[in-house]
Amino acid sequence: MANYIPEETIAEIRRSLDIVEVISEYVQLQKRGKHYTGLCPFHEEKTPSFSVSPDKQLYHCFGCGAGGNVITFIMEIEQLQFAEAVQRLAENKGLSVPDIPLSGTVKDSTHNRKKEAHQLASRFYHHLLMSTEQGRESFEYLLQRGFEKETIELFQLGFAPDHDGLLKELLVKRGFDLTDMEECGLLRRHEAAWELHDRFRNRVMFPIRDMRGYTVGFGGRVLGTGEPKYLNSPETSIFNKSDTLYGMDLAKKEIRKQNTAVLFEGYMDVISAYQANVKNGVASLGTSLTERQAQVLSRNAERIIICFDGDNAGQEAAVKSANMLEKHGLNVQVAVLPERMDPDDYIHSKGAEQFKKEIIEAAIPFMAFKMETLKKNKNLHIEGDKLSYIEEVLKQITTLSKAVERDFYMRRLADEFSLSFDALKQEQYRIYKETRRSFDKVGKPRFNQVQRERRGTAPFVNKRILPAFQNAERFLLAHMMQSKEITAEVGERLGGGFNVDEHIALAAYLYSYYGDNNPADPGAFINQLDDANLVKKASEIAMLDISRHLSENELVDYIHQIKNYPKWVEIEEKEQKMKEAEKKSDLKQALQLAAEIVDMKKALKK
Ligand code: CTP
Ligand code: MN
Repeated sequence: MANYIPEETIAEIRRSLDIVEVISEYVQLQKRGKHYTGLCPFHEEKTPSFSVSPDKQLYHCFGCGAGGNVITFIMEIEQLQFAEAVQRLAENKGLSVPDIPLSGTVKDSTHNRKKEAHQLASRFYHHLLMSTEQGRESFEYLLQRGFEKETIELFQLGFAPDHDGLLKELLVKRGFDLTDMEECGLLRRHEAAWELHDRFRNRVMFPIRDMRGYTVGFGGRVLGTGEPKYLNSPETSIFNKSDTLYGMDLAKKEIRKQNTAVLFEGYMDVISAYQANVKNGVASLGTSLTERQAQVLSRNAERIIICFDGDNAGQEAAVKSANMLEKHGLNVQVAVLPERMDPDDYIHSKGAEQFKKEIIEAAIPFMAFKMETLKKNKNLHIEGDKLSYIEEVLKQITTLSKAVERDFYMRRLADEFSLSFDALKQEQYRIYKETRRSFDKVGKPRFNQVQRERRGTAPFVNKRILPAFQNAERFLLAHMMQSKEITAEVGERLGGGFNVDEHIALAAYLYSYYGDNNPADPGAFINQLDDANLVKKASEIAMLDISRHLSENELVDYIHQIKNYPKWVEIEEKEQKMKEAEKKSDLKQALQLAAEIVDMKKALKK
């Protein structure tokens, strides 16, 4: 892989890092024998097929084939270039690496310029807020709302001045193309006029950052009251609103660590909660939650706590989001706030401790929340209301896939209204039968089904059964990665005589790797490969469970399997031809082929 970082530095970084530790920040890993396993962060799955080997310092997913070492992991998960990934890892370890320019080469330059302009704008707005007279009022406003200076810095809040073209001036000075700047939403044209102006004026600025921490858009809030309260960047080629979540860049580590995310409605809520030590919070971007956002969340956690405003609109939105998140297999809980309060208000009036304990940690399962909500517009002292309430709750209970859960809530219902559990169960079963047909017709899984599968036990479901020669090639390559001597042996006896193209390539790389006097080290070897596909293949093979030692017998056996494979193919072809000859009643030809086949098989058995 091309890079401008010295080999020794890379080697040092790899030596000083533990792949299990690094990956644990993104994936919940569990020890299973020699390996750690978890849900693959690169594809959606319900049973863990992602495996990490601390011995080999490699990872591999048996489901989607992703694999590599600690550097390729960071490259893939953070979408970084090789050098950027090395730098990121080094920074975390406090090692020094020469500076690398921000832009990669993947996307065209306008794309990069738009992104650069956003980093610049966000620094500019932040500077105005923190250290200028113009920004004073906004800064005080934020302090008065309870934000500490460090929090303001962490979220890089800013101030857009009441001026038509200050940002524009700066962008021009830095040589940005104004059409690009209009396209990416920093500038805009007044309807009647030709001239471009700053989009955001006299607003407190909330940079919206992607997962990697780069600003891709803004939300701007009026100072005090005014309309619109929030002005948001439009959707642009660098800002995909439907799959971005506010706060995700800061929250993702904690989300993965706790296996739980908290979903808020507002930017202010995310920031307040963070300051109150709830650091796994994110918010959608001024719209209701999208399917893509739900998918992003489901990739990073199994549990979601929804913490929306205590008013009716907030609670309705909570139900909508909860339903969507459940469909994505998430275990959904709802944190209920007192009416007329949002999380930010609550934190300010009751304090951080109480928010964490009484609201977040007291979140209730979505089902329990629905039971509470159904009560709201009913007077349960009236018989009719009571019966319709019970009926509605039973309908909801029917959507639960686990019998224990259904029983649990029915018992609760029975206790609350002094009813017979059996009678409730009978009624619930009637509802089930009635609705089953419609469930089946839609063909959708019933709620929570995905979740149940996710907890299933069998890992590595996708393990493939491969033909013997392929296994022989894989095992041999695995041994070669661990031993220079074995590689030399194989080189002499087999050379490039593997049958699978990727294996031929890997063998060639191995011969040259040891030829350069490198020591056996699968992780280091993988760094030399400049093809992403080969990196995956190599990690998969390196992670095969092989004994340290390879006996002469095993070696001979593997080599036989590999060398003989083309002959088996030839035999198969002859058998095919023989059948055709028989069909055409060409007996002479058929007998001739049969004799050849017998001879070949005999030779192979030796
Ligand atoms: N929002 C928006 N446009 C509006 C109002 C709200 O995009 N006109 C979005 C913003 O993302 C905001 C969220 O909806 O953060 C929640 O709105 P709201 O509860 O009104 O704002 P708060 O975040 O509570 O802000 P504040 O506390 O300053 O009123
Ligand atoms: Mn608020």
